[in-house]
Amino acid sequence: DETTARRKDAHLDLCATGDVEPAQNSTLLECVHLIHCAMPEMAVEDVDLSTPFLGKRLQAPLLVTGMTGGTDRAGVVNRDLALLAERHGLAFGVGSQRAMAEHPSRTASYAVRDVAPTVALLGNIGLYQAIGLGVDGVRRLMDAIGADGMALHLNAGQELTQPEGDRDFRGGYRVVEELARAFGERLLVKETGCGIGPDVARRLVELGVRNVDVSGLGGTSWVRVEQLRAAGSQAQVGAEFSGWGIPTAAAIASVRKAVGPEVRLVASGGVRGGLESAKVLALGADLAGMALPLFRAQQQGGLPAAEEALKVILTGLRQALVLTGSRSVAQLRQRPRVVTGALKDWLAAL
Ligand code: FNR
Repeated sequence: DETTARRKDAHLDLCATGDVEPAQNSTLLECVHLIHCAMPEMAVEDVDLSTPFLGKRLQAPLLVTGMTGGTDRAGVVNRDLALLAERHGLAFGVGSQRAMAEHPSRTASYAVRDVAPTVALLGNIGLYQAIGLGVDGVRRLMDAIGADGMALHLNAGQELTQPEGDRDFRGGYRVVEELARAFGERLLVKETGCGIGPDVARRLVELGVRNVDVSGLGGTSWVRVEQLRAAGSQAQVGAEFSGWGIPTAAAIASVRKAVGPEVRLVASGGVRGGLESAKVLALGADLAGMALPLFRAQQQGGLPAAEEALKVILTGLRQALVLTGSRSVAQLRQRPRVVTGALKDWLAAL
């Protein structure tokens, strides 16, 4: 309905210019130090970043994680960023298709296949909307945009900070199990900035989930976004919880240890460049994911600005591989690294 559309627009405005990345939050990627190799004995061209994902082959292990859809403005964001992903061989996700489930006339704002015919494309729906839609309803959302897979998002922290948000989180695993059975390798389960930890990840994998985006703490905070929209006591609780979550570095390292090598892992949540992408890959991610930096660049200068931002990221990622003497992510993972400070404490507990 219109309130959903208005809320989405407020969300986009806040994400474009608001203080949605609380300065005191950290991914803890600053505690990860890749080790310099003074004699790389390789050329930049020797770096092979290609990666399988959703039955396709990416040219670089990067996912533009799901953000938006449902309005004309959102449609432009989706098309610009999908085209960018197509050009550079990345994966791309649309935002929550709830608006489209409620109003099929809004499908066009999620439809990117004409500009991104071959991109590895993810649809997106919230866990609790998926309960209402059922397996067939979720499949229709995926098929309507020609997606290769479906992202199921978890956002309990955001819902509890949203005055109109959900207050009952029962029945989640049962739906995940049904979706995993129906979608197999095409299902991805993601958080939205509070992180998936090893216990939840293990359970998801036991139920058949094969792709997980840990989406940890340290980047866009949806609790903060809701805090900025809220008033009174709701805003106070939002302020208190806007640093809640599992830092991205702790989430990805502990989840990789918990689930074994065959599960595809994405690390998003505050990953802000090529070197940070290399760090999450070294810690066990198959793909690094990013939302806010590419969204902001697109809002400020359209596709050219987003492409500039992406080139900086890709250059930094290649540079990190060369400077660790790694031709591939597989080699990067085998290099020694130093883990210091708070991340060491987190990993001792997880
Ligand atoms: C998001 N995110 C998100 N996630 C999701 O699963 N469905 C959605 O509809 C949205 N919407 C959305 C809008 C905008 C503007 C942003 C910035 C983000 C969350 C996103 O996919 C990601 O998990 C987090 O934002 C963490 O990554 P960054 O932003 O710190 O790189």
